[in-house]
Amino acid sequence: MARVEDYVVGIDVGSSKVVVLIGKRDERGGVEVAGRGQAPNRGTRRGNIVNIEATVEALKLASEEAEVMAGVEISRAYVGVAGADLRNVNSRGMISVARRDREITRADIQRALEAAQSAALPSDREILHAIPQEFVVDEQGGIADPLGMLGSRVEVMVHLVTGQVARTKTLLTCINRAGIEVAEMVFEPLATADAVLTPDERDLGVLLVDVGAGTTGYALFSDGEVQHSGVAPVGASHFTNDLAMVLRTPYAEAERIKVKEGCCLLSMVQDEEGISVPAVAGGAPRVVARREICEILQPRAEEMLSLLREDLAKAGWEGPLRGGVVLTGGGAQLDGLLELCGQIFNSSVRYGLPHGLGGLVDVLGSPGWATAAGLLRYAVAAEANPQRARRRAGFSVRNMVGSLRNVFSDLL
Ligand SMILES: Nc1ncnc2c1ncn2[C@@H]1O[C@H](COP(=O)(O)OP(=O)(O)OP(=O)(O)O)[C@@H](O)[C@H]1O
Ligand SMILES: [Mg+2]
Repeated sequence: MARVEDYVVGIDVGSSKVVVLIGKRDERGGVEVAGRGQAPNRGTRRGNIVNIEATVEALKLASEEAEVMAGVEISRAYVGVAGADLRNVNSRGMISVARRDREITRADIQRALEAAQSAALPSDREILHAIPQEFVVDEQGGIADPLGMLGSRVEVMVHLVTGQVARTKTLLTCINRAGIEVAEMVFEPLATADAVLTPDERDLGVLLVDVGAGTTGYALFSDGEVQHSGVAPVGASHFTNDLAMVLRTPYAEAERIKVKEGCCLLSMVQDEEGISVPAVAGGAPRVVARREICEILQPRAEEMLSLLREDLAKAGWEGPLRGGVVLTGGGAQLDGLLELCGQIFNSSVRYGLPHGLGGLVDVLGSPGWATAAGLLRYAVAAEANPQRARRRAGFSVRNMVGSLRNVFSDLL
């Protein structure tokens, strides 16, 4: 008989759809996909919720579908966050070792991590994750964990993920109103990285890019740790908007044309084949060359990828990406994006499909499922061994759900 405790749940409230994935723990510490649900979401724009009712409805629909498939009722979930309001920075903390014999204790490490988080934050912002990148003990760097070492000074480099309190609270409210408690909120590109990157890539230097509908999230890993991450306010729906505007066709038609015929690299368009483009308000359709469609899509794709490259340059990254770029998210499937990305980052590029899960994995065939799959892997690791899992994924210091209480009981 299946028990609720055997299951973990990941929820990705995306700009285009809400995804609920239910996983069942196996005996080997892994997770098997037991159920999935999906519902279109009209309540979110650029990763931020603009309509609570619509988002709650989508959440209810998606979770019911997943529950029926898995044959279990869900009450608690790991929830992804990826709004364009997130601002992620690297910070440094330094402390003197307390003990006379100079042995570094857990309390010293905790103080160093807290010092790194004490940088002034605007009052409307809160730290979601503080991810240790590297410790330095008396000038010696590259230390992953200084516990038990001898030294007089401990420094830590930390990657901070910060979000607007009001935005995160709104997401929490939606999940609670759908009858689900939030176990943890997890920055989506980090969860996705868990599902699609290999440890070798993380060591060599890899950029994970999640091209969603409203936003493009990214995380740069090197030496096994996240070095920088962020969210650009441009996603795959902007490509559709551009097509709809320039071709003067309804949004739904523009979306269909983008998915079926779209390509964002001119050198890949060879045929001179014409594409029928329906007019707005029932006028006669026009025939547009595929090349012309590409001329609309390519500048937007270049803009999106250049935004990421500039963000990384501002954060001090100069390359190279020896582990390459891994593209995921629904928008990654746009024809030509992989090749264009290779040119812009001057590196190899591959698609990132979720791996490392058992069970009904065939239902996760598209990159749009990578985030929810990553949330499941994160959930299982976090619950099996909170300290270790949090260190590995980097969520070691603080996660804002601790301070933002679930308002679950007040709502029912
Ligand atoms: N074959 C395809 N070619 C091009 N674009 C595609 C294809 N399939 C899906 N997309 C685009 O992917 C987007 C949806 O991706 P995804 O499901 O990852 O977004 P999301 O998670 O809902 O959004 P966000 O992450 O921004 O909140 C849509 O804009 C859709 O047009
Ligand atoms: Mg997404």
